[in-house]
Amino acid sequence: MTEPHPPRRLRSQAWFDNPDNIDMTALYLERYLNFGLSLEELHSGKPIIGIAQTGSDLAPCNRHHMVLAERVKEGIRTAGGIALEFPVHPIQETGKRPTAGLDRNLTYLGLVETLYGYPLDGVVLTIGCDKTTPALLMAAATMNIPAIALSVGPMLNGWYKGARTGSGTIFWKARAMLAAGEIDRIGFTKLVASSAPSTGYCNTMGTATTMNSLTEALGMSLPGSAAIPAPYRDRQEVAYVTGRRIVEMVHEDLKPSDILTRDAFLNAVVVNSAIGGSTNAPIHLNALAAHMGVQLNLADWQTYGEDVPLLVNMQPAGEYLGEDYYRAGGVPAVIAQLMSRDLIRTHAKTVTGRAIGELCANAKIEDEAVIRPISRPMAQRAGFVVMRGNLFNSAIMKTSVISAEFRERYLSNPADPDAFEGTAVVFDGPEDYHARIDDPSLNITEDSILFMRGCGPIGYPGSAEVVNMRPPDYLLRKGVRQLPCVGDGRQSGTSGSPSILNASPEAAAGGGLALLRTGDRIRVDLRKARLDVLVPAEEVDRRRMTLEREGGYRYPPSQTPWQEIQRKLVGQLEHGAVLTDAIEFQKIAQT
Ligand code: FES
Ligand code: MG
Repeated sequence: MTEPHPPRRLRSQAWFDNPDNIDMTALYLERYLNFGLSLEELHSGKPIIGIAQTGSDLAPCNRHHMVLAERVKEGIRTAGGIALEFPVHPIQETGKRPTAGLDRNLTYLGLVETLYGYPLDGVVLTIGCDKTTPALLMAAATMNIPAIALSVGPMLNGWYKGARTGSGTIFWKARAMLAAGEIDRIGFTKLVASSAPSTGYCNTMGTATTMNSLTEALGMSLPGSAAIPAPYRDRQEVAYVTGRRIVEMVHEDLKPSDILTRDAFLNAVVVNSAIGGSTNAPIHLNALAAHMGVQLNLADWQTYGEDVPLLVNMQPAGEYLGEDYYRAGGVPAVIAQLMSRDLIRTHAKTVTGRAIGELCANAKIEDEAVIRPISRPMAQRAGFVVMRGNLFNSAIMKTSVISAEFRERYLSNPADPDAFEGTAVVFDGPEDYHARIDDPSLNITEDSILFMRGCGPIGYPGSAEVVNMRPPDYLLRKGVRQLPCVGDGRQSGTSGSPSILNASPEAAAGGGLALLRTGDRIRVDLRKARLDVLVPAEEVDRRRMTLEREGGYRYPPSQTPWQEIQRKLVGQLEHGAVLTDAIEFQKIAQT
């Protein structure tokens, strides 16, 4: 008989079982013994598994991980490991001011230090709320020790008067109803709260469901695990199996670099289109790829993703929510459909050690209203279009959420069906927008295009989700529910707005948006994937000289030390808004 896993010296033994340094070993041991671990355990050569805990009372979306961690520990112990749970800097998408985007790189740095500096052989990444997923995966990529992700799962479906209410998405509708006088403020709050009936993350196809689905598509979590709603029995079970599996991964030395290959990223790009994923996905996946040392850029998203059809009928692009997605088959059912058109690189390895194609080949759709067969998709060409123009190098647009109303108003000119023109109304940051959007003197009409600038990674440190702006109340009352929006910030994945966003470089980094003025004419051409300001080049040059004389685009001062530090180190959204020094360090460390 052969030993399945020949014993290998584990990383943690440098702390707890190091004959070359008995002084430090004694000091390391005494403190980890003080809460009940025994010498026998710490000298056993058993893998020590960290559980990177993102849940807390401050992070409600991930709070259920505090419960799930107990099942993870049981799995780790069953497989012969030792579990050590530790806290991760909280990231709560909706609760963190000024924006949770600021914290992704901070959590990344914090987790890298924890994984590097403590006796851990492998780690369970407890993912969920938007930025928790990329932050934890990025840290695992940098450290490249065995790692497996466990999603906390979405909330149960929300309901209001017999209709599904989805988190985030209902907010935009409720806000329009409030403006139109259809509900009062209490009704507004109740309608919004109806979308959050249980523990878990946003039940729509927002950034959370997107990133958890893509983690599974990347091969970093167990097959079929992403979509399980947080309170379901199956969620407990997969927590247990995840705990068992990470111990085996340590024995097999199966690392992120074995899983997060370019093929895995291209699979995720394809799956993102098919699920109608968030516009935050390119930012986070490009960042993760950069930390893994894998080539992935914005052009890849259009090249590999644009032609992929939309299969998942989930809000905001469709009608259903998280429970339905799970019941219909979740990620494996989507991947199986994509495989039937050879859109998946099937050999890509997963945390199971097996290939993604092998795991998903036989996955069936259980409800074709929720996950469509690829022969009858919700929409063709559901990916992002990468826009260019004379105001920015790149910006993206999620064409799958262009509504019939929007198409009718802006894209129905038979002579020029993919293009429209409008007049710019420019806001400098969300505070400026909130203060002025309803001001009649701005004279916003159906012909207006709303611009939000000063909201990229530097301007609004971390980049705010504010590009999707509502029309003024007086237009909402006339039934105009959407105006075209453009900006250098981000937008919530739960928003159904077909904005042109993530414009890079941002105004605060010298981008052309800083030169735009209210009243400028704008032309958008979706076929050519261009957005241009129709102002003579000499005039643009004049404005640039004036702005430079005045010291450049102004943005608000930093409010915390981290805001100031990140502003100096962060790159643009196009490249994932990573800390450029962290990437440089990794390049040096890898050579
Ligand atoms: Fe946390 Fe949506 S706000 S998942
Ligand atoms: Mg968000």
